[in-house]
Amino acid sequence: MSLFLTDDPNMLDDWLVVGPASALAGATEARPHAVRLLGTALRLWRDAAGAPQCRLGSEALAVQQRHGYLWVCPSGRPARPLFDFPEYGEPGRRLVDCGGIGVAVSGLRVIENFLDMAHFPFVHGGCLGMVPHTEVAKYQVEVDAATGEIWATDCRFWQPRASAAHDGSGSEVLYKYRVMQPFSAMLYKSSHRAGALDAIGLFLQPLDDEHVIAHTLLACYDDVSSDAELIAFQQTIFGQDKPILENHAFKRMPLEGRAETPTRGDTSSVTYRRWLRERGMRFGVRQAA
Ligand SMILES: [Fe+2]
Repeated sequence: MSLFLTDDPNMLDDWLVVGPASALAGATEARPHAVRLLGTALRLWRDAAGAPQCRLGSEALAVQQRHGYLWVCPSGRPARPLFDFPEYGEPGRRLVDCGGIGVAVSGLRVIENFLDMAHFPFVHGGCLGMVPHTEVAKYQVEVDAATGEIWATDCRFWQPRASAAHDGSGSEVLYKYRVMQPFSAMLYKSSHRAGALDAIGLFLQPLDDEHVIAHTLLACYDDVSSDAELIAFQQTIFGQDKPILENHAFKRMPLEGRAETPTRGDTSSVTYRRWLRERGMRFGVRQAA
């Protein structure tokens, strides 16, 4: 019997984020750091050698520290290694942990929304978009045969203020999206440095089928903004998405049939849902009636 609330191998046999590595400062076996994952409580701390340890009751779980975060494999039998994040620690980039924000919806909805450009002018007006610049130009989506990751490339969108470092004069911004796991994605976008792309990681900690903690990490080029300004910008954007995500009629995402009609510019969404269906995703999915 599983100690977790799902038996979906897409979750149990993968590396799932449980928070930033910095959360273990001061944690010990006697006074561990507590987190929630898949409906259960875990305890984390560092051993004398600095290696992270994780327990569920008396059972030791597989845990690793990478990309500034802690990752737990619930089954201890990961189907694949954790994804690469080559921009992490690249010289010249700033790494800024923008914190974890709770969202009361399936993580699949959060990733799908992250991939969607069509909502920018309506949800992030004056920032990531502005009416009447509502057109989503055609872009490319493919699944990388070597890694199994989804890549959406050649995405372009007109934005009044693309990041904390941009003034409000507007520019066409180049985007690339990458989905590494059902619950994690990266965004690469035009940065303040000509020719270079900022990287933004979105790593979702699954609490249950309808709740996640969304961890956001910037690996960006910005000589202008303070950490506080960078974090405030991301939290403002996320704060605009959160109520919309939480007001979905169905908290879980339907993968079958025509439960939700596709709209233009949703090539990424169609590919993501197909990719989830092909791997037999059940966690966070709304089962057909
Ligand atoms: Fe958004």
